[in-house]
Amino acid sequence: MADAGAVHVPVLLREVVAALRPERGGVYVDATLGLGGHARALLEASPDARVVGIDRDPEALRLARERLAAFGARLVTVEGRHEDLAEHLDRLGLARVDGILADLGVSSMQLDRAERGFSFMKEGPLDMRMGASGPTAADLVAAASREELTRIFREWGEERMAGPIARTVVEARKTAPIGTTGEMRRLVLKVLGPKREMHKDPATRVFQALRIATNRELVELERFLDDAVARLALGARLSVLSYHSLEDRIVKHAFQRHTAGCTCPPSFPVCVCSRRRVMALVTRKSVRPTLAELGENPRARSARMRVLERVAEDGAGPGTPSR
Ligand SMILES: C[S@@+](CC[C@H](N)C(=O)[O-])C[C@H]1O[C@@H](n2cnc3c(N)ncnc32)[C@H](O)[C@@H]1O
Repeated sequence: MADAGAVHVPVLLREVVAALRPERGGVYVDATLGLGGHARALLEASPDARVVGIDRDPEALRLARERLAAFGARLVTVEGRHEDLAEHLDRLGLARVDGILADLGVSSMQLDRAERGFSFMKEGPLDMRMGASGPTAADLVAAASREELTRIFREWGEERMAGPIARTVVEARKTAPIGTTGEMRRLVLKVLGPKREMHKDPATRVFQALRIATNRELVELERFLDDAVARLALGARLSVLSYHSLEDRIVKHAFQRHTAGCTCPPSFPVCVCSRRRVMALVTRKSVRPTLAELGENPRARSARMRVLERVAEDGAGPGTPSR
């Protein structure tokens, strides 16, 4: 497929580069390479920086490789899921790396291509898969029970009318399969009405929920975060950009867990829990795009970045002074 029109403006670009400090050189993992906007900036920051770019979307990888061809062997691409980070790095012989980025969610290229079925704004097949295999959103909508659909819309879309929408979907699919984005949107609007809320289409939450369910987006995010933290070299940082509150909550809690130190009561003279603080938060609060960035790229509006850094090696034993 031609590259014409494939665009994605990298979000919080300056902030990501400042957080990861690629000018120090070394190996940086871009766990969601997309069209390579962030990876380009990392590679441009220093001739000694190399990037391992992972993406589950073969089309995105092909475009990124084309766009970043000038960097030659300094970019290595991996088709796969970021949840399998440990296996990808083992295969490349990388025990530790000098920085990791995860820019979660979908790229504008994926949203803009009607045939990928991510957008309720464009008529297309109800696909929504980021990768090339596995069940589509249409398969999920055809097979899930009313209870499962209700749970998906409620938990992953935070949709208050999850139950009535699931009931409408189950009724409609008795007559004909729900195969397109337009049909799905019309069913949601049958329940919610056409009125936009806070500039958002009423179908936004249900589409978000279906995308998360189709790609198992939140299920394995924690595994990725744990593995990413474990692979940071001393002084290396992990930067994560999330785009909705469910994602951000998982990142925030994982970062809190990893930056917690000894949990022994203050009255204990020595530590018996063996937990030593090896990670520190670089961002106490999440970093949001500036108004200037939002003026140029409205799609950045829900972005939040959190960063942590490895400040010590693992492995204190019991008996170290507590706290
Ligand atoms: C927001 S885009 C990244 C854009 C990129 N930072 C850039 O500047 O072009 C997110 C990318 O992550 C990929 N992705 C989403 N979930 C993934 C996962 N679990 N494993 C690997 N890639 C994933 C998507 O296919 C998409 O290309």
